[in-house]
Amino acid sequence: MKRILIAASVFIGITGFNVAFAADEKMRHENHRHVMSMMDTRISLGLSAEMKQHQLSNMREHLEAINSIVGLMAENKFEEASGIAHAKLGLNPEMQRMCSMFGNEKFMELGMAFHKSGDDLGNALQTKDLNASLRALNKTMQYCVSCHAAYRQ
Ligand code: HEC
Repeated sequence: MKRILIAASVFIGITGFNVAFAADEKMRHENHRHVMSMMDTRISLGLSAEMKQHQLSNMREHLEAINSIVGLMAENKFEEASGIAHAKLGLNPEMQRMCSMFGNEKFMELGMAFHKSGDDLGNALQTKDLNASLRALNKTMQYCVSCHAAYRQ
């Protein structure tokens, strides 16, 4: 009986410790998140939950477009790569509308300049000149980098 009691109290002790530990972990995690967002000094666009999802899905398409373009360039398929640059990265009415939805003038300007560079990339690819195309791709990707450095959702 005594042994059972000891075993039971050890078990309860361990469970209690685990619960306390989990709660502590959770608090530490939340604190960490809080500190991280304070350290993030980028300008917030203050997007709604819906807009956030919309923007992220758009962004994933941008990344996919870059990936396709690089792959097609490696296969000498410049025409196809050019088509993707114009359709997915260029300044079409949909992109224009998207970029102006954020209510931030500077962000919109950067977005428009980025999409314009997407059209320049499409034009460079059209010439089938690898170096000119890489230079244009580099310029477009510099917009990805500089916008991400300046803004967050
Ligand atoms: C004009 C600004 C701007 C430009 C240009 C831009 N992005 Fe973004 N992107 C953002 C913002 C803002 C976020 C959200 C970042 C955050 O809140 O931490 C984002 C997020 C992303 C994400 C995260 C998606 C997810 O599901 O989590 C990817 C991937 C991405 N961008 C890819 C790209 C690529 C590739 C390019 C260039 C071809 C690009 N972006 C150009 C503003 C931009």
